[in-house]
This record gives sequence, structure tokens and C-alpha cells, in this order.
Amino acid sequence: MDYAASRDEALARIAAAQDLGALETLRVEFLGKQGSVSGLLKTLGGMSADERQAVGPQIHALRESVSEALTTRKAALESAALDAQLAVETIDLTLPASETPRGSIHPVSQVMDELAEIFADMGFAVATGPEIEDDWHNFTALNIPESHPARAMHDTFYFPDKDGEGRAMLLRTHTSPVQIRAMLGQGAPIRIIAPGRVYRSDSDATHTPMFHQVEGLVIDRGITLGHLKWTLETFLKAFFERDDIVLRLRPSYFPFTEPSVEVDVGFAIVNGKRVLGGSGDAPGHGWMELLGSGMVNRKVIAAGGLDPDEWQGFAFGVGVDRLAMLKYGMDDLRAFFDGDVRWAAHYGFNPHDVPTLSGGVGTAA
Ligand code: DAH
Repeated sequence: MDYAASRDEALARIAAAQDLGALETLRVEFLGKQGSVSGLLKTLGGMSADERQAVGPQIHALRESVSEALTTRKAALESAALDAQLAVETIDLTLPASETPRGSIHPVSQVMDELAEIFADMGFAVATGPEIEDDWHNFTALNIPESHPARAMHDTFYFPDKDGEGRAMLLRTHTSPVQIRAMLGQGAPIRIIAPGRVYRSDSDATHTPMFHQVEGLVIDRGITLGHLKWTLETFLKAFFERDDIVLRLRPSYFPFTEPSVEVDVGFAIVNGKRVLGGSGDAPGHGWMELLGSGMVNRKVIAAGGLDPDEWQGFAFGVGVDRLAMLKYGMDDLRAFFDGDVRWAAHYGFNPHDVPTLSGGVGTAA
């Protein structure tokens, strides 16, 4: 057999292949399992030692040449394809934009930046956790056992499958599981806020299946309810940019805090609208429920891997969308997530309006 002639013919056909598909067909024809060159290699087994010594090197050289030619042609075709693509996709970046770019920062993003700025000033870091959680972090570790009515109250979205450890998987119903992740992950002391998306199977004018919360957690030695009240007061005065914000702490119940307090903020009615500020007990005033908080339950501290005799803490959770509505005056929560550019243009923020304490965290839209 004339191996040199076979080689020349193969190389010529490879060099003439016009596209990657044709080249792949040739590769299969020569080197595939049923390929002609592969077939030649298989004949070596049936040869005598002398024959093999004579033709073996020629067959191997043929295979080598064909394989090399395929690689070279492939690289050439790929680079030609890239050149062709680059030639048609040319964009002249020096041309002026045909339309003024539009876009604004969503009020939720702006408020989250404001929160991070205000709390950073009090020494809080920003922590995050996964939106796809397991029921241990979202419930059990937060002292919400399987039979607890709070599990039903949360209208949880569950996934059909469990995780590797047999835990039910769900979309987190609140940002509180980040408390557990922070304790297990960094140990004590802790000073964090954890803003993010949360999910509940609930939908009407004031509820959307996805909304935003920010969690706060402080763990240290000798933490008291006084620290909680000061922190919330300082935060809300900075956030609403009013010194006359008055809080009322009301006894309440959350499984993960003991004692638990619901925090109300005083408002006045001005021109038929609620304006935060002043005591809710004053004539023409009222109290509005704003957030949940309390001293971290000993069981939760233990679930976080810390000794509750040594470490105490407070926590709070508040709706970010709600904070944005109260500060910037939107009255329909659903519009937050409609993606209507007119709404975004009206309520959105200039990207250069980065919230800073020195510039005012609430620069107007
Ligand atoms: N996780 C609660 C909820 O989503 C809110 C909350 C209440 C968070 C009290 C806390 C807290 O950290 O102490 O309804």
C-alpha cells in the first residue's frame, strides 16, 4: 500500500475543507472509530513482527500527519470565523450616542445604600446570605421548630427536593437566617446588617411574593435593650433626616427573640398625609408599626455555636420597601417591581447621587 499517496490525498482534502463541519466529517472519516487510518492501525495486530517493523512506522507517521493537519486547519478556520465575525460586528465607540442613555437607581437600591452608609458609621458591616435556604437556617435554628405555627404563617415557597443533608430547601422567608450564618461563620462579637430579597407566597396591594428586608444583629458581652433602643433611634433619625423621630417599644413575640419588641414610630397628619416625627400620643398624631426586634433568644445564640452565658445580643428586621415608601412617598408596593420606566424615571435616583453622611443620605430624587 502506498501510504505516502494516502497521506497526500488526506492532507489535500483537509486543506480544502471550507468550514468546521466539513473538517469534522473528515476527522471522523480518517480518525474516527471506523475511520480509514484507524482501520490501518488495527491491521498491525494481525501482522508478523517483521511486517509490523516495516509498515508500523509508516502507518503511525500517516496518523500523525493527518492529525496534525486537522489541528492546523481547525485553528485556521476558527480564526477566519472570528475575523469574519469581528468584521461584521464593528462598533465605532467614538460616535455620539443616538439617544441619551436613560436609567436610574431603583429606590430599593438607593435605600439599601443609605442603610449601609448609616450603619457603617455605627461600626456595622454588611453581611449577606443565600436566597435559596434550607429549613434549618430559615426556621429551626431560629427557634421555629417543625410544628411551630410561624412556619405556616410564613407562606413558604418550598423546593421539591431536599439538600444533601436531608434538609428541606426553600426561598428564605426573611433575612433572619443570616444571623445564624454570621454567628457560625465569624463567631462573636458581631455587628452586621444584612439587606436582601425575601420571598413569601402572598400577593395583594401591600404584599408582593418577593420583597426586601434588612436584618440587624449585634452580639457582644453585656448587650441590653438600651443598646437596641439607642441604635434604632440613631438609625431612624439619620434615615428620615429628622431629629424629632420618637419610638415606642411595645412588648411582642418572635420565636428568635426574648424579650421581643415591636417598634412603633410617631407620626403627625399633615394635609391628610402621615408625616413621621413627634410623639404618636400628641393630639392629631398616631403610632405606626415599623419593625420587629428584641434580645436574641438564648437558643438562637446556642444554635449559632456561641455560649449564651457569655454572649448576648439584639436583632431587628425591617422591610426595606416599606422604608422607601415612607421616606419617598410611593403608595403602591407593586409598582416597585413592575419595571415601568416612567415610574423609574420619577422615583429613581441619579447614579451620581451616592448616599453619604456628609452629603446627606437622602438627597432628593
Ligand atoms: N424575621 C421577622 C419577619 O420577617 C422580622 C424580625 C423580627 C427580625 C424580630 C428580627 C427580630 O431580627 O428580632 O417577620
